[in-house]
Amino acid sequence: MKHFTHLLYLILPFLTVFCGCEKEPVTDRQDTQQQVTPPPAPPAPSQDAKVLVVSFSFTGTTKSIATTLAELSGGTLYSIEPETTYGSENNTYYDQNTRAYQEQYGPASVRPAIKKTLDNAGDYDVILLGFPIWYGKAPRVIFTFLDAYPFKGKTVVPFITSGSTGISSAAAELKSAYAGITWKNGDRLNGKTREQLKSWLESSGIKVK
Ligand SMILES: Cc1cc2nc3c(=O)[nH]c(=O)nc-3n(C[C@H](O)[C@H](O)[C@H](O)COP(=O)(O)O)c2cc1C
Repeated sequence: MKHFTHLLYLILPFLTVFCGCEKEPVTDRQDTQQQVTPPPAPPAPSQDAKVLVVSFSFTGTTKSIATTLAELSGGTLYSIEPETTYGSENNTYYDQNTRAYQEQYGPASVRPAIKKTLDNAGDYDVILLGFPIWYGKAPRVIFTFLDAYPFKGKTVVPFITSGSTGISSAAAELKSAYAGITWKNGDRLNGKTREQLKSWLESSGIKVK
């Protein structure tokens, strides 16, 4: 008898599954009758999208991330070079006499000259645009770059590096200044590993090679 009871414990779960006679809670049954909206699918990676990875970098942090993103996506790497390079004194960022400070706090129309060396800008479908945060915003050379290469109707994914400031303010300013671009949500990418950058690319709809 004891053996029979043990045997019953063992086979009872299987019997209930096979005969479908396990009682469903009433609430579950009601749920299955309702229309369930599936969660939004992640964007499908654009299989043949031509990717450009552009960055401006003053001390090398953003450039290093841009290089990894270009390797992972198979995109073309391009650096925005100001006509006149920013001197190391600009690192003292609370000094109001520095060029960076004066540009960032100057009129919104400030456009520091850049070297216009990007070939075939119109060929790219997706542009990853990286820059360091300067005083909460994108450095003004980014605006010079987007004036020179408007990327109208193209997808631009911004990414930043910073001491701690997030991307939202800089991204909002760019979105409103260049409304003809299809902007994707960007991110702050400091300290991300190669694997994390890979996931970030995929979540932004960019195919990893
Ligand atoms: C002029 C200047 C202004 C900066 N302003 C900010 C800021 O507002 N918020 C912040 O978190 N970091 C700020 N930083 C730090 C840089 O964003 C950060 O070090 C960045 O990763 C540097 O990138 P890079 O090496 O590509 O130039 C500033 C740096 C400089 C030189």
